Amino acid sequence: MKILGIETSCDETAAAIVEDGTKIISNIVASSQEIHAKYGGIIPEQAAREQVKAMIPVIKEALVSDIDAIAVTIGPGLIGSLLVGVETAKSLAFAWNKPLIPVNHLIGHIYANWLGETPPKFPALVLLVSGGHSELILMTDHGKYKWLGGTRDDAAGECFDKCARILNLGYPGGPAIEKNAVAGNIVKLPRPMINDKSFDFSFSGLKTAVLNRKTENSNELAYELQEAVTDVLVKKTLLAAEKFKIKTILLAGGVAANKRLRERLRSSASPAGLKILFPPINLCTDNAAYIASAAFFNQKSVPWQKVDADPSLSLS
Ligand code: KG4
Ligand code: ZN
Repeated sequence: MKILGIETSCDETAAAIVEDGTKIISNIVASSQEIHAKYGGIIPEQAAREQVKAMIPVIKEALVSDIDAIAVTIGPGLIGSLLVGVETAKSLAFAWNKPLIPVNHLIGHIYANWLGETPPKFPALVLLVSGGHSELILMTDHGKYKWLGGTRDDAAGECFDKCARILNLGYPGGPAIEKNAVAGNIVKLPRPMINDKSFDFSFSGLKTAVLNRKTENSNELAYELQEAVTDVLVKKTLLAAEKFKIKTILLAGGVAANKRLRERLRSSASPAGLKILFPPINLCTDNAAYIASAAFFNQKSVPWQKVDADPSLSLS
């Protein structure tokens, strides 16, 4: 079964065709990141305007074969951006008379793991870390999720983005922090909530700590920030795996592209007998291939008249 996925929740305009949830036939992503880089963050109105321009050309480029269904991200995300993808998908579903499958963006991120070499087995513990989310989720089957905890303030990616801006390292912040990180001898940053037994996170204090020390060496601060965020994410993930006796861990979300986080998770997970899966690096950040994959495994089509964008859609 071939599904055309459409994703426009943030500043990307993406379309992809995926066969049977695992095989990518095409995968096109256009980003307005360069425009936002000038301002150090996303301007929602501008992102949506760029998406209106890019949507049809991107779909046209991705449409390299026939399709059986259309999948679209309905939320969470920026309302103006979501509307571009949702309304386009509805029009196509009507015009082509194809089933339309609405997808939660967060669930979509998780399915980047089904587009790698080894498909995951259940039960799995998911660490979902992106620009808008930092969540620990227990997944017992397709469509069966239990939310264990999440950030109480800023998300991990948001923390990288804000700190990179403070340190003048560029946008998006995560890759900039990763690229500029150089180990040094500077005083340690805090590891917020690292000894707390809940599965919640808090990253906004790190931003304040970096702000207070912004005159120090920015490469060393970038390194120490990456270590601080990684330490907390790894510790809580292992704690959850132990508590729920889960042997498989899935990493997902834009921050999953971070090599230091991957390395640290791998080196801590193996001695504990845990299997850890990472999505291919290029599928960690927003794309439509994982939306098509999530739609295949959860196949719940809805009449197009009943599909609406929902910017604050949650996991439950
Ligand atoms: O999943 P995503 O593309 O969009 C959201 O749904 O939020 O994630 C974007 C986030 C940004 O905060 C970006 O700085 C972060 O992922 N990110 C990274 C890396 N690549 C992207 N963070 C750390 N290291 C990276 N290599
Ligand atoms: Zn995302």
